[in-house]
Amino acid sequence: MTTSSPNPAAGQRPRLLHPFARPAARTEDFLTIASASGSEVFDSSGKRYLDALASLWYCAIGHGRGEIGEAVVSQMTQLDAFHLFDRFTNAPADALADRISSYAPMDDARVFFTSGGSEAVETAIKLARLAQVAAGHPERRVVISRQPSYHGVTYAAMAATGLPPNREGFGPLPPEIVQVPHDSLEAARAAVAQYEGRVAAIIAEPVVGAGGVYPPVEGYLQGLRELCDQAGALLILDEVICAFGRMGTWFAAEHFGVVPDLVTFAKGVTSGYIPLGGVVVGPAVHDPLEADESLYLRHGNTYSGHPVACAAAMANLDIMERESLLDRAPGIAAVLGKGLGTLVDGERVTSVRGAQGVWALGLGEGVDASALREKMLDRGVIARPIGTSTVAFCPPLVVTDTEMGEIVDRTGEAISDLP
Ligand SMILES: Cc1ncc(COP(=O)(O)O)c(C=O)c1O
Repeated sequence: MTTSSPNPAAGQRPRLLHPFARPAARTEDFLTIASASGSEVFDSSGKRYLDALASLWYCAIGHGRGEIGEAVVSQMTQLDAFHLFDRFTNAPADALADRISSYAPMDDARVFFTSGGSEAVETAIKLARLAQVAAGHPERRVVISRQPSYHGVTYAAMAATGLPPNREGFGPLPPEIVQVPHDSLEAARAAVAQYEGRVAAIIAEPVVGAGGVYPPVEGYLQGLRELCDQAGALLILDEVICAFGRMGTWFAAEHFGVVPDLVTFAKGVTSGYIPLGGVVVGPAVHDPLEADESLYLRHGNTYSGHPVACAAAMANLDIMERESLLDRAPGIAAVLGKGLGTLVDGERVTSVRGAQGVWALGLGEGVDASALREKMLDRGVIARPIGTSTVAFCPPLVVTDTEMGEIVDRTGEAISDLP
């Protein structure tokens, strides 16, 4: 044990080992975020930034909503926590499951809670395989995912993630999780044919998010649904980014007109105020699990259905309903998506991609996304570089037109600042 200061001097490494960061980074490489309100965040020197990625794609209602704090304190005072395993339940978890089931893109949905998105993906893959076993198809184990895609960091979620650098050094990976290109139904068909009779599920983000922001090509998700039906496979939509308003609907499945069997969610369900994730479980999955009265689901997390997280989610969803925040997504497309489009010059910026509330700029050769992010920080905008040639935007749903104009203007200036 050491008694070193919590803020080591410049040149030293902080005790905090950061996620998705260089372990070799020094104290001065990190920007301390000290406070936030709406779409604005402030660092410890008081400098203001516009939060153009809703923190990490999650802060739908904007920062600094006291109402969530009040709901959390009230719940903590009444019942801090009690687990859901086996015979126990709690009112906030039951109420939230009922509410999410009422928003679900399939009839007769049940809801399983986790602490975040990776656990949700892990759960969905495990439930898909277990449901196949329970339905008499233990040979259906293969999971088909896409490239690029992002599904998280736990082993099955990492194996499903179509970003090869994210797996380097972490092997061996769980077997029988294979990837196809994200935009080719032909490739998905070929994989289903290759693993004929052995496919448990296909998993897809409706709009690829952290893999680079790629909306689905026309008819693609419906095509996956048909493919799953033909193959006896289950369709998992990973809506960790897309659910809870990002596409203007509670679930993106509804926006794109497709009925999945399992839907993962996290992020927007609490707008990130308290960690929470989960899986919406349709009848194709829960029916076979319920059919055997003696089947016991040996899966769950200590914090599944944590009452404080569920109370935060209920308060978050109250705000989303009361302020009609789902209706804001098309406005983000009209102002931010369109505005970013004006930055496309065919050289430094080669494309704009996105749908509703999530957007990205594709950068030209020699323009590095991390370098652009730095210039944007100088100009007071936080966006996220993805790989070397994409910068992603996904602001809080409460972002104003003026703020979106500022995001576009500052981004344009930052592009001009590049050498
Ligand atoms: C689509 C998708 N799935 C899963 C995850 C993993 O979620 P978490 O970081 O909460 O584990 C993410 C995180 O960004 C995501 O975007």
